Amino acid sequence: MSPSITVRVPAKVNVQLAVGGRRADGYHGLATVFFAVGLYDEVTVAPADRLSVTVEGTDAQHVPADPSNLAARAAALLAARHGIEPSVRLHIAKDVPVAGGMAGGSADAAAALVGCDALWGIGSSPAELAALAAELGSDVPFALLGGVALGEGRGELLTPVPVSGSFHWVFAVADGGLSTPAVYTECDRLRSLRGGAGEDDVPAPAADPALLAALRDGDAVALGAALGNDLQAAALGLRPSLAATLRAGSDAGAIGSLVSGSGPTCAFLAKGAEDAASVAGALAASGTCREVRVTEGPVSGATVVG
Ligand code: C5P
Repeated sequence: MSPSITVRVPAKVNVQLAVGGRRADGYHGLATVFFAVGLYDEVTVAPADRLSVTVEGTDAQHVPADPSNLAARAAALLAARHGIEPSVRLHIAKDVPVAGGMAGGSADAAAALVGCDALWGIGSSPAELAALAAELGSDVPFALLGGVALGEGRGELLTPVPVSGSFHWVFAVADGGLSTPAVYTECDRLRSLRGGAGEDDVPAPAADPALLAALRDGDAVALGAALGNDLQAAALGLRPSLAATLRAGSDAGAIGSLVSGSGPTCAFLAKGAEDAASVAGALAASGTCREVRVTEGPVSGATVVG
């Protein structure tokens, strides 16, 4: 049997997503607080004659099983930087919602970097892996790091954020995904209607001190009150049915709710495990989402588990 390495990697929710104006390069400056939650993909890497990808799990049919997959691009990038052939079979066991605003594709890329680095005995430093991750996508460096971190630049410049204790989350998974570029474009369109979407028109994004204090103090009620997502109006514009999902979770007693990243997954914060279970039950009964997931966080970033 050939050796294989399995890496477990978490999904994220942005508890704050402050979006600046559109930059000349098309990206938006961010001040975002990434929060890693206990929904995981697992990526297994094994030696092979050539680079290939297979995917299993709900929604697997919506994930490209070819070189365009971000995990395959991660393996190819790492190999190219070290002058070796990307001779690896990647198998992705998907549990993170696809195109759901929880950075599942970015997570798989981070896992592929960690797995291939170990498989090929490269021994990259965390900083070297983070630099490659940033080339692959704005959310990939955070999937390596996990925990809670402030993301600046386009989200790739990370500073760990201190957190006390654990928070209880409920996620309402929608039917079908949303395209991240489409949501940013809609955000720009809405801003243009109000006066402008450029860097000179929109205030520079900044981390919310109340949100950082809530995380530091382990204060779920304060965190719930401070949750914020500048992409939410755009996601709701593209998918108006999310308003009913958000209302169903709030009516059921969630202490905070927001669209996760660019959506369409909706995230609900609960006071404790019992409240999370009752919010989840109410959401499932509401008929406003496809699936409900209950979890806690923060959790660690991409980790070798076998
Ligand atoms: O970096 P990543 O490839 O994940 O970004 C996907 C798309 O999301 C970008 O092409 C861009 O349209 C949008 N984006 C943005 N500003 C960011 C991050 C992403 O406009 N800070």
